[in-house]
Amino acid sequence: MTGATEVEAILWQPGRLSLLDQTRLPGEEVWIETTDHAEVVRAIREMRVRGAPAIGVAAAYAMALAAIALESSPPPVFHASLHRAAADIASARPTAVNLGWAVEHCMEAAASAASPIDAANRIASLATRLHAEDVASNRALGRHGAPLLRDGVGVLTHCNTGSLATAGYGTALGVIRTAWEEGKRFPVFATETRPWLQGARLTMWEFARLGIAATLIVDSAAASLIRGGEIGAVVVGADRIAANGDVANKIGTYALALAAAAHEVPFYVAAPTSTIDLATADGDIIPIEERPGAEVTTFAGQAVAPLGANVRNPAFDVTPAALISAIATERGVARAPLGEALRRLATFSAVATP
Ligand code: MRU
Repeated sequence: MTGATEVEAILWQPGRLSLLDQTRLPGEEVWIETTDHAEVVRAIREMRVRGAPAIGVAAAYAMALAAIALESSPPPVFHASLHRAAADIASARPTAVNLGWAVEHCMEAAASAASPIDAANRIASLATRLHAEDVASNRALGRHGAPLLRDGVGVLTHCNTGSLATAGYGTALGVIRTAWEEGKRFPVFATETRPWLQGARLTMWEFARLGIAATLIVDSAAASLIRGGEIGAVVVGADRIAANGDVANKIGTYALALAAAAHEVPFYVAAPTSTIDLATADGDIIPIEERPGAEVTTFAGQAVAPLGANVRNPAFDVTPAALISAIATERGVARAPLGEALRRLATFSAVATP
């Protein structure tokens, strides 16, 4: 490990939010500086900030910006306008539960405030608390998840789940990182993750900064490497975990889980308990974001499909609980039956046995 400085992609100074523009990485480090919640919503929609925990924290700061902008309004105007801003922020992307979760917590903080100024202060301090808690959760889930990975056994990860996708440290990438920090060494593979290339552009960039030797593969190479024995464990993040343990994550996750099951390779998920949505019974009712077809028909600005080609571009898929060996959270590791274990972890801070 190089001891490179931690990547911090979300920075808050009272009343001002800075977001590292993830669409420009790894080529350039460009920052979006804003005091306007609508600009944060745009940044989330356009994938400038992405990854479930990161968009949850960005959403909380967007709520703080909206509240600060309205703090001199009379209370009825303040509350009506804050409601509108909340609806806008919560609808920026539909699949990750963290977004709605963060907005809901901010609205609860506003509801118990004595005045608009008090509400703005409460939301801003809640946002900074959620930010710090996410980093702490990721470090803890890294410690719980690291024992799942073994010296010398190849690990595959998908999409980007590192510091960029979270408030810091990472979930699935955090588990790999902790195992390396503990001295384990194993081959690490990252999928490129079409169409946004989060794996190629962001995960490989993070691994390079951390000094973790990783190998990039195209998405379609994964099953073959699993079959050939080069990959002995898969670890991914999650955008929403339903009450029964079904997991929504980046498109392609389900295919990796099927390939892993076919070859008896363990398939692990790493996510903070804020990603568990006990109100959603199973994965069939998780809303799956469909993104513009142009993300598939073009590559680096060049057309790669005939004009007018029909496209489907689901950004996420659902992996059934039955294909998941374990879910590492900051409170412990959930194993089958996942529904029961997740309910315990999400509701009681109880630590399950790894
Ligand atoms: O579309 P993205 O890049 O926001 O999707 C991100 C993922 O699917 C991640 O795997 C997930 O959010 C977990 S991140 C810690």
